[in-house]
Amino acid sequence: MASREMAFLGIHLLLCWAAVSGAEYAMAYKDPNQPVKSRIRDLMQRMTLAEKIGQMTQIERKVATPQIMKDFFIGSVLSGGGSVPAPRASAGAWVDMINELQRGSLSTRLGIPMIYGIDAIHGNNNVYNATIFPHNVGLGATRDPELVKRIGAATALEVRATGIPYAFAPCIAVCRDPRWGRCFESYSEDHRIVQAMTDIILGLQGDVPENHAKGFPYVAGGRKVVACAKHFVGDGGTQKGINENDTIIDPNGLFGIHMPAYLDAIAKGVSTVMISYSSWNGVKMHTNRDLITGVLKNKLGFKGLVISDWEGLDRITSPPGANYTYSVEAGINAGIDMVMVPKRYAEFIGNLTFLVKHKFISMSRIDDAVRRILRVKFALGLFDKPLADLSLADQLGKKEHRELAREAVRKSLVLLKNGKNSDDVPLLPLPKKAPRILVAGSHAHNMGYQCGGWTIEWYGGSGRITAGTTILEAIRSTVDPATEVVFSENPDADLLRDHDFSYAIVVVGEHPYAETFGDSLNLTLAAPGPTTIQRVCGAVKCVVVLVTGRPVVIEPYLTVMDALVAAWLPGSEGQGVADVLFGDSGFTGRLPRTWFRSVDQLPMNAGDPHYDPLFPLGFGLTTEEPCISDV
Ligand SMILES: *[C@@H]1O[C@H](CO)[C@@H](O)[C@H](O)[C@H]1NC(C)=O
Ligand SMILES: *[C@@H]1O[C@H](CO)[C@@H](O)[C@H](O)[C@H]1NC(C)=O
Ligand SMILES: *[C@@H]1O[C@H](CO)[C@@H](O)[C@H](O)[C@H]1NC(C)=O
Ligand SMILES: *[C@@H]1O[C@H](CO)[C@@H](O)[C@H](O)[C@H]1NC(C)=O
Ligand SMILES: *[C@@H]1O[C@H](CO)[C@@H](O)[C@H](O)[C@H]1NC(C)=O
Repeated sequence: MASREMAFLGIHLLLCWAAVSGAEYAMAYKDPNQPVKSRIRDLMQRMTLAEKIGQMTQIERKVATPQIMKDFFIGSVLSGGGSVPAPRASAGAWVDMINELQRGSLSTRLGIPMIYGIDAIHGNNNVYNATIFPHNVGLGATRDPELVKRIGAATALEVRATGIPYAFAPCIAVCRDPRWGRCFESYSEDHRIVQAMTDIILGLQGDVPENHAKGFPYVAGGRKVVACAKHFVGDGGTQKGINENDTIIDPNGLFGIHMPAYLDAIAKGVSTVMISYSSWNGVKMHTNRDLITGVLKNKLGFKGLVISDWEGLDRITSPPGANYTYSVEAGINAGIDMVMVPKRYAEFIGNLTFLVKHKFISMSRIDDAVRRILRVKFALGLFDKPLADLSLADQLGKKEHRELAREAVRKSLVLLKNGKNSDDVPLLPLPKKAPRILVAGSHAHNMGYQCGGWTIEWYGGSGRITAGTTILEAIRSTVDPATEVVFSENPDADLLRDHDFSYAIVVVGEHPYAETFGDSLNLTLAAPGPTTIQRVCGAVKCVVVLVTGRPVVIEPYLTVMDALVAAWLPGSEGQGVADVLFGDSGFTGRLPRTWFRSVDQLPMNAGDPHYDPLFPLGFGLTTEEPCISDV
């Protein structure tokens, strides 16, 4: 009798449970009808320590196989800069590669999907044929957050086109010294401009609904991606702009200049935050528990996941990896949830397991990390649709996105000089109809140079590295068919003397670079840029167009020029440059940074007591946009 009652009760309970959970889902965490909180709770109580630590591990695609995903319960995979399934891989090849790894994850006991991330920092820039948008410094010059939000939306689609749901963007660094090799990744030296540009998060992830709980991650479905505000915090404030170095500043400076954009990013639902390699007053940010756990998580209420930078734990010590056990302990206890290991995953997992088993790291810290990781994965809808498909493949490099990039280029150009002396007639806009014009300079016809670092390769490239329009090609297609266009990278005196040019367009700049390779104490134009300027402008009426990631030394050559334009790193759509040079659109861009006279003034930012710029923050001449009825 008793046993029959028990059996009845058992069946009754089972029926009730089935009614609640909707029968087809054997486990509550798999049921999309359950609230996220319940799904996380259900899943976490099923997970072993190994499964939890696996979730905290992000590895590079080059070391990832389906078997490794399965054996180590790996939670995330990334493409480092330039890490692609094959040169010029198609969207389909990307999707296949990612799905193959995902199937490894799905074949585990609990089938927790991995999340794939990539540095899509100016479009889906590792991918051949993707639209390459201007780097952030140029977007800062537009002062147009609505445009930047649309760029975020286009980037999300191009990232999803390749089956990827996570972009390590935006960089919300406030670059305070252009000698920093990542200054082009910063929208401005002015934190208010950087704050406004965090609207890109709304484009990447979607608009947060009114009733969205503050601090929680948000992604609006399969056409959007997880974003990442980086690098927390003070990355743009290091001494002499040395990459990954020490930001020496008092708390007022840190909280007044470098922190504000994180408040905006969190308010806009940013799902992840990446930690900076840099130190604050001598303490490595990757170990800074007060700022990561105390400020970011507790005070600002960030509920998404905190990720390390590439080998960020190794670089806690000097030399990197000198005491990895200590690094793992310090980083995880500081509050880092997911670690971009990214290669020696067995050592990371071994050390973290050891540290938890011997109570150097508490189980509650691990649970906090895993809860946050799962929260992002649920917000993304990854459990309900873990495999990518080709439905968005046609978004990659599509015409509308290229038109948007072209619009961004137009709005990013800053006109610094127009007319040899201030009372001379302006040279710009240039006439489309002229007997013969000269286009010169190393950067006039070089797709790699105009895209800059983080394009196809980590440090960028030279020549026809991806699809797009060079500035020379754009000029050719803009001028009157009767105008003869002569191109010479570095013309000699004979060429200049013999051709009777109406005017010249000289396009020079910096060669591409990324991170530490871009640190420069001299900020000079790449040779033979200065020679080209002096030789051409000394012989022909000229406009100089600078293709650089930051202000560079220009004062010595300024008087010889008739006009000067800062084009930053415009990306694949060079047509935007020609649109404005020839007056199809007016110049509207304004300097997102102070233009120094000489490097010995640096650091020098608006508001500094010794402020004596060549061109101040916010400077930018305008030209009339043509009135349609005049045409
Ligand atoms: C790149 O785009 C061009 C032009 O749309 C197309 O012909 C080519 O197949 C694309 N290549 C890849 C690898 O997607
Ligand atoms: C900053 O750079 C200097 C010079 O390269 C180096 O000696 C120092 O260790 C660096 N500091 C940090 C915190 O990386
Ligand atoms: C590693 O760091 C820990 C904690 O600071 C220290 O106790 C240990 O001696 C270090 N080990 C080595 C090999 O330096
Ligand atoms: C910790 O990391 C070090 C350095 O990679 C490695 O030699 C060691 O075997 C790891 N420890 C464990 C327990 O995995
Ligand atoms: C300026 O610095 C860069 C980077 O450190 C270096 O490659 C270049 O040779 C320097 N240029 C001059 C003219 O000193």
